[in-house]
Amino acid sequence: MGKFQALLALIALFALEQCLVGANFYNETYCNWGAQNAVIWGNGNNLALVLNRVSGSGIQTKRQFLFGSIQMLIKLVSGNSAGTVTAYYISSDGSRHDEVDFEFLGNVSGQPYTIHTNVFTQGIGNREQQFRPWFDPTADFHNYTIHWNPTHIV
Ligand SMILES: *[C@@H]1O[C@H](CO)[C@@H](O)[C@H](O)[C@H]1NC(C)=O
Ligand SMILES: *[C@@H]1O[C@H](CO)[C@@H](O)[C@H](O)[C@H]1NC(C)=O
Ligand SMILES: *[C@@H]1O[C@H](CO)[C@@H](O)[C@H](O)[C@H]1NC(C)=O
Repeated sequence: MGKFQALLALIALFALEQCLVGANFYNETYCNWGAQNAVIWGNGNNLALVLNRVSGSGIQTKRQFLFGSIQMLIKLVSGNSAGTVTAYYISSDGSRHDEVDFEFLGNVSGQPYTIHTNVFTQGIGNREQQFRPWFDPTADFHNYTIHWNPTHIV
């Protein structure tokens, strides 16, 4: 995978993997969208991306990564969230880009969210899958982790 962007909605907490020895969010990334909604803390090891009524937020890494693991803790919009789509995705640049997507499709009060995923390689997606969470994704932060290695995306 090339340069990734992590774009997010609602409140998410994101921990930088220690595979980037000495790296931290301050000196390895820059905010490419919604800087007022992105906060880095804890010696640069943690990043929060927030969605409000005005904007979401995202970061881009300065270096490119081939494989890796991305952890994101996300708490979704509660109550009547019908019509909202909370998107968490990593992507490289360009028309032949690679991308891994989570989209959380909101619903009316008391009805379940749908988790919609997709994977793009060389600019081609068409790998949509839909899931129903077995927990209430609005009640607390949950850990949505993407593992990308040479043979699998988990
Ligand atoms: C980033 O900062 C850390 C200390 O906070 C340092 O150890 C590391 O070398 C820096 N990395 C780069 C690429 O500047
Ligand atoms: C909303 O909930 C209804 C009833 O469970 C379900 O049929 C529908 O697919 C859900 N919509 C979304 C976007 O998940
Ligand atoms: C999220 O889950 C991954 C995979 O199980 C784990 O390695 C990581 O420590 C978890 N992160 C947090 C902050 O709980």
